[in-house]
Amino acid sequence: MKTFVKILKWTGLVLLIVIAGLVLFIQFSWNRDYEAPFPEIAAATDSASIARGAYLANGISHCNTCHIPNDKIDALVAGEKVPMSGGLEFEIPGFGTFRTPNITPDAETGIGKLSDAEIARAIRYGVSHKGKAMVPFMSFQGMSDTDLACVIGYLRSLEPVSHKVEDHEFGFIGKALLAFGLMKPVGPKDTPEKFVEPDTTEAYGRYLVYQMGNCQPCHTEVDMATMQPKGPELAGKGAFPADKLTKGYSFLSPNLTPDPETGVLADWTETHFIERFKQGRVHEGSPMPWESFQNLEELELKAIYRFLMAQKPVKNAVEKTVFEPGESLPRS
Ligand code: HEC
Ligand code: HEC
Repeated sequence: MKTFVKILKWTGLVLLIVIAGLVLFIQFSWNRDYEAPFPEIAAATDSASIARGAYLANGISHCNTCHIPNDKIDALVAGEKVPMSGGLEFEIPGFGTFRTPNITPDAETGIGKLSDAEIARAIRYGVSHKGKAMVPFMSFQGMSDTDLACVIGYLRSLEPVSHKVEDHEFGFIGKALLAFGLMKPVGPKDTPEKFVEPDTTEAYGRYLVYQMGNCQPCHTEVDMATMQPKGPELAGKGAFPADKLTKGYSFLSPNLTPDPETGVLADWTETHFIERFKQGRVHEGSPMPWESFQNLEELELKAIYRFLMAQKPVKNAVEKTVFEPGESLPRS
């Protein structure tokens, strides 16, 4: 009996030391520096390119739905043009509270002092101008050189707005993911194209869905413990638990593959798809940036539809996508 108690004490002590070591390791190493190349991209200055940048930033790439203050969401939803002065807060319990920065050209509180290459690197490699891993909210790694130059040119053309946004506050899980390198900057899979021709082809549709529109990360199931994708791509069930941004509703994303039984698009014609996007938001609180996508032109919508309909059908039933406040999301 006595030896047993002794063993128990020792195991307890060893465990305690291990845990203390882990906590210390996490506290000291989460905020590490990262390197990534600076793309050779200069902000476009001609008016046609700046117009293209505006179209992308307020449309498919919806920079304008994320980089706005918290109290301006209703204004945006109501159709007002809101400056991209940042502050939108994503509160993810355990992971932390993350805020979008001010991306207007204000020198003190915005991107005024950042070089084109620093902005391009942040978007392409997920390493901030301070050399830190950025929280993975932007999946534009494969944006073409030309489109990136247009978007940066557009940001530079905006009216500077002075609005200081507080830094992120990482929770323990967030710090642990950073410390163990589970959340780290991810660069492009392949060398990004210099230019992608806007036309109605599947190729342009793939570029919009994967590199420009964030469609894929939202419409694929994610392992909530590690934030890594785990479901078949574009087959739906990305989970959005209730928070203040969703107005208390919870959401699951539908299956976008053309499966005749479980795909949301199964009986949608191209015309219906275009009309649905032109219609805009139907569900209050939906995380899908309908207000930006509403600005898409038919060319882009056709390309997206044609690409999605050409994917391999995946059977994945998403019974329901909208959950009332108080209703909990089904466990997967
Ligand atoms: C889904 C939300 C979301 C969208 C859409 C989005 N951003 Fe961001 N962006 C963020 C968040 C969150 C950060 C802060 C990342 C960090 O530092 O951890 C950020 C950071 C940035 C930064 C700061 C980089 C630095 O060095 O500090 C720039 C520049 C930027 N975004 C530009 C853009 C542009 C341009 C677009 C559209 C093409 C865009 N963002 C779309 C959420 C978003
Ligand atoms: C921030 C996450 C997010 C992004 C980005 C996103 N979606 Fe969604 N999407 C959702 C959610 C959640 C729903 C279900 C709620 C709703 O219908 O608004 C949805 C619904 C849909 C629907 C069904 C609408 C209906 O009327 O039934 C289609 C089609 C769709 N998304 C396509 C796309 C495409 C194409 C893109 C990229 C261009 C995209 N989504 C980007 C989260 C997202």
